[in-house]
Amino acid sequence: MYLKTAFRILKNLISPETPHHRDYARLDIVRFMARLILPRYRFEWPSLDWWNDESFNAYLQQFGELQGASSLRSRSRWMVYQLLRLAEPIPGDTAECGVFAGASSYLICRFLQSKSQACTHFIFDSFEGLSQPSVEDGLEWSKGLLSHSLEATKANLPFSNISWQKGWIPDRFAQAADRRFAFVHIDVDLYQPTRDSIEFFYSRMNEGGILVCDDYGFSGCPGATLAVDEFLKDKPEKMVAMASGGGFLIKGRTTAGNFLGLPRHELTPATE
Ligand SMILES: C[S@@+](CC[C@H](N)C(=O)[O-])C[C@H]1O[C@@H](n2cnc3c(N)ncnc32)[C@H](O)[C@@H]1O
Repeated sequence: MYLKTAFRILKNLISPETPHHRDYARLDIVRFMARLILPRYRFEWPSLDWWNDESFNAYLQQFGELQGASSLRSRSRWMVYQLLRLAEPIPGDTAECGVFAGASSYLICRFLQSKSQACTHFIFDSFEGLSQPSVEDGLEWSKGLLSHSLEATKANLPFSNISWQKGWIPDRFAQAADRRFAFVHIDVDLYQPTRDSIEFFYSRMNEGGILVCDDYGFSGCPGATLAVDEFLKDKPEKMVAMASGGGFLIKGRTTAGNFLGLPRHELTPATE
């Protein structure tokens, strides 16, 4: 069988029927090597249209995320881009908690430029990195990690409708207390600021508004996932966990649990 596979790969490398066949052959080689080194890693098809989206690639390039380790973020960037489209008809401002160099806020501000109503984008960040992790956060994080200066982030975000709120979450939330929101992006990695953020913004989301938690569902961010699940326990909305990592909810949209995990019922035969 191995011989047959090796022959197929070789054939597709030397004279592929289509360019896709050559890509799949290369992927087979990479997958074979990965099985030895990182067996749990799951690959995806190398024929995704969004990989060739020029304007999106230019955006990734601008934030140094087209190549190298940072390109691991490109899937969640794409999802933010698409989720913003879904928020188009929803009135309200936008916000990001945990901004770093501004890559997500850049997408949000470009989205606001395309809307007819004038909206404000609120930016909440210490610009001194993470706060002190708590026991819920495990051992991966430490205070001060992921620090990016306010000046450097401002240089990446030349938009006039930004309300800059430098400080520890939730200290500056009062500045947005009387606003309603269409889109909120929470990305602070840790339990407590995630909990503070979702608590503050959930009730201020307009119906149909989208709240994203970038850290949801990553085993490296157990505190952020816990904070969201705890908060949503008695709410009709639950996080829709994305294959890219991260999750989102649509305000006012009741969401089923992960039903495959429930005990199986007897299948009822279809009635005529
Ligand atoms: C992963 S980075 C954010 C990445 C960003 N959302 C992006 O799209 O590139 C996490 C950010 O959260 C900020 N942060 C973490 N804990 C915070 C807290 N308690 N208060 C304010 N900012 C915090 C850090 O300063 C850092 O900029």
